[in-house]
Amino acid sequence: MAKSEKMFRCGECGARYPKWLGKCEDCGQWNTVAEEVLGLGKNASNILRLEFQNLSYFQEKIDRKLSDIGEFDRVLGGGAVPGSVILIGGDPGIGKSTLLLQVLAALSQEYNCVYISGEESADQICLRANRLRAGDSGVKLACETDVSLIINSLDNDIDFLVIDSIQTLQSSSIESIPGTISQVRACAHELISFAKTTGATVFLVGHVTKDGAIAGPKVLEHMVDTVLYFEGERSNAYRILRAVKNRYGPCDELGIFEMQQCGLVSVLNPSVLFLTQRAENVPGTVVFAGIEGSRPLLAEAQALVSKSYFTSPRRTVVGWDLNRLFTILAVMESKCKILFSDRDVYLNIVGGLKITEPACDLAAALSLLSAKSGMAISREMCAFGEIGLTGEIRSVSRCSERIKEAEKLGFKSVIFPYSNNLLKDNFSNIELIAVKTLVDAMAILEIVN
Ligand code: TYD
Ligand code: MG
Repeated sequence: MAKSEKMFRCGECGARYPKWLGKCEDCGQWNTVAEEVLGLGKNASNILRLEFQNLSYFQEKIDRKLSDIGEFDRVLGGGAVPGSVILIGGDPGIGKSTLLLQVLAALSQEYNCVYISGEESADQICLRANRLRAGDSGVKLACETDVSLIINSLDNDIDFLVIDSIQTLQSSSIESIPGTISQVRACAHELISFAKTTGATVFLVGHVTKDGAIAGPKVLEHMVDTVLYFEGERSNAYRILRAVKNRYGPCDELGIFEMQQCGLVSVLNPSVLFLTQRAENVPGTVVFAGIEGSRPLLAEAQALVSKSYFTSPRRTVVGWDLNRLFTILAVMESKCKILFSDRDVYLNIVGGLKITEPACDLAAALSLLSAKSGMAISREMCAFGEIGLTGEIRSVSRCSERIKEAEKLGFKSVIFPYSNNLLKDNFSNIELIAVKTLVDAMAILEIVN
């Protein structure tokens, strides 16, 4: 009789081992190696031959489907691709189920949509649907966790399938409990095969671990076509949908939503939103002209510098990189002779945004300098530029787009890298201030220690 094979796999990096280990030899993580049951061995003999086609035969056959929820379609790269599998991760309660139910309800006007929940009862989902005013949409619902039963019950003419969540599913070909690495992989594999053979678009909800990564092996992210993260502060109504992998569109694209009483609403002009609550000219705030994904986005960097009562002063950031803050503080100390060694420093990107661009350096540095000196920087000025270790302001990509957005929103001046070599004639309503170093920027703004 054929025997089921056993092996062990690291949940972080996917490395395989014949026996259990406390520490993965590949990635060095502890307690990540777990047993994986492989199922029955297969006879590899195969007499079929592949048929090869010219590349031109396959081109331009993608027919994207739009949900008309603008921000969602944008993050997918202009609509959902038939036969693709999309994984959505995010903290509990952030709104994954809400978003997908809303998207399905919108799509169900034209397409065949099924929502499978392994977490909530039909009553709970119904309650949510009524709140979203989607109670009478054509979405078909079932609460089930057996993946084979789900797939066997689906017709081939399904256009969209939501699985909420992949960690609750169970495949009978594997002996372990739901949520384990082998179960998640096996269930995802079956659903991916279903998507590829029927042309249905499958959305998988994935839980995230306390470190913020999607639970289950990293290989789950490798298996699917698109990985989206739904982020935001729970205390704040704004939610950001971010594509971190997309085989059918750009990654790092952002969609911004506001959670309201009746569900998520697309935010059409995010720059306006992130700047609405700005105070009048006060020290410690500078607007950053950034680019997120395909579009420009203006956000506010706020800094607070206060006397420290600790032996090692505090450095705290929200929405930015702590290591970047250390670097900028070191550059300001050594190149501008402005000392922060006896000060606590707090830096915050307002509105729950997480900025990863180095182009935010200049705005962050200016907000810190403004906070330290007590001198306000004009509300009508914004800044962008990367700061090098010698204090130089380095050029950044898509300079004109950033300035155009600032001009559109009524900013009167912008500080940007001299090396960006901009054609000044293109901008008539905004003063362009090109700077070579951080010291130059301080001189222009007349910031003194
Ligand atoms: P949910 O979609 O259940 O989150 P997840 O699936 O990511 O765990 O969202 C739950 C939160 O959203 C809950 O705290 C209530 C809030 N919410 C609203 O504010 N408005 C709404 O219309 C809905 C449906 C939920
Ligand atoms: Mg949910």
